[in-house]
Amino acid sequence: MESREIRQRFLDFFVKHDHKVVPSASLIPTDPSVLLTTAGMQQFKPYYIGQADPFKDFGSKNVVSIQKSFRTSDIDEVGDDSHLTFFEMLGNFSFGGYGKQEAIKLVHEFITQELKLKIDYVTIFSGDGQVKKDEESKKIWQDLGIKDVRECGRADNFWGPTGSEGPCGSTTEIYVNGIEIWNLVFNEYYCRTDGALEKLSMFGVDTGMGLERLAMVGQEKKNIFETDLFAPIIADLPASIIDEKTKRIIADHLRAISFLITDGVTPSNKGAGYVLRRLLRRVIAGNHDVAPMIGLVVDNYQTFYPELNQPKILKIFDEEKTKYSEALRNGLRELEKLSKIDTITAFKLYESYGLPFEVIKDHYPDLSRAEFEKEFERHQAVSRAGIVGKFTGGLADHDSKTIKLHTAHHLLLASLQQIFGKQIKQRGSNINQERLRLDFSFDRKLTDEEKKKIEELVNQKIAEDLPVTKKEMSK
Ligand code: SER
Repeated sequence: MESREIRQRFLDFFVKHDHKVVPSASLIPTDPSVLLTTAGMQQFKPYYIGQADPFKDFGSKNVVSIQKSFRTSDIDEVGDDSHLTFFEMLGNFSFGGYGKQEAIKLVHEFITQELKLKIDYVTIFSGDGQVKKDEESKKIWQDLGIKDVRECGRADNFWGPTGSEGPCGSTTEIYVNGIEIWNLVFNEYYCRTDGALEKLSMFGVDTGMGLERLAMVGQEKKNIFETDLFAPIIADLPASIIDEKTKRIIADHLRAISFLITDGVTPSNKGAGYVLRRLLRRVIAGNHDVAPMIGLVVDNYQTFYPELNQPKILKIFDEEKTKYSEALRNGLRELEKLSKIDTITAFKLYESYGLPFEVIKDHYPDLSRAEFEKEFERHQAVSRAGIVGKFTGGLADHDSKTIKLHTAHHLLLASLQQIFGKQIKQRGSNINQERLRLDFSFDRKLTDEEKKKIEELVNQKIAEDLPVTKKEMSK
């Protein structure tokens, strides 16, 4: 069964069972608790907690989607048989439309009747001090003839937000040919940031099944890279890529890069932009001629994802390639000037020039990766603390000079947007009595002429001495 057909049968099956199809949300999430969209349920969070009305928005309490998803937590696992960064997640969702009985019955029917696959075993939540064991799901599975029902704890069979708040609950998972293919979450609680659980007034169902894993078992392949979702890409990779794991990494990353760029992520040194930069540089670093493969990715996926924007992907790919080789050249020059190196210097070379640890280690074989990683983590903690400090400084500082500079900061942002368009977004700012700073993303340096134009525009608005008014409005 081709993956194209699996997608269609999945949607058709749930439509037949009174679900409405909802298009995939962007990989750039509206949910601030995640860097990138990691699951189908993210766009539906407000419906589980009664903040939005599914009837009004979808005409049904039950919906089905195929969600573009990205898991940064799996980047280092890519290359094995079943992990990916970008993947497509098939899911059905219910906001008070049905409970455990119906949810389990539906997924069981889809796997065993529609796809004719055999379930090896399922897992249910074993219970703990906070939430009791899910006896109900166990019984439903047993009544459907599944004898092997295994019990697992919170780490495996409980879904919820990490480090933030949101709907959560116990899960039951389906295993076929030894791999987990489908995860059913029963959103019965609201998890608060302090870990306390509040019972939700509505019973929610959120299921997720990776298309690639399903294709792997459905097409009887040994790994996801042998499925029709990847095989054409792997087959056409340049002959210079010999190592099997490298082939898999490049195929995964090229696909992920294409979707991230299409959804509007641009390479940068933080957040989602940094994730994209990491993937791009991993692909570029090997010096293989992989740009033509982007066309293949687009060909393979465009029927289902017409938004894939090949010219934009290629443009960003080429720009990053130029930036990276420039940075590498400068970094190598610096590295060669040194007569010895310690972890901190190595990290500085990495941070300033993007010089990979491996390249530095080639020159200094005694360097330890563990020490380097520790330095990386330390640095991240320091910059996080820095951000917090900046925010409190800026918010607490309300003397008249700071207020003036704050107004000037808005004029600066408005001028940038007037000249370069609304895509200029503020990424941060820091204002005190003496100066203001505005961070924004843009793909090149501003020319002196442009800077002058911006300055003139800001000064012109200041000279106009526009009235500043204050008004209280409803939320
Ligand atoms: N939210 C769950 C998951 O992503 C089920 O969709 O696994």
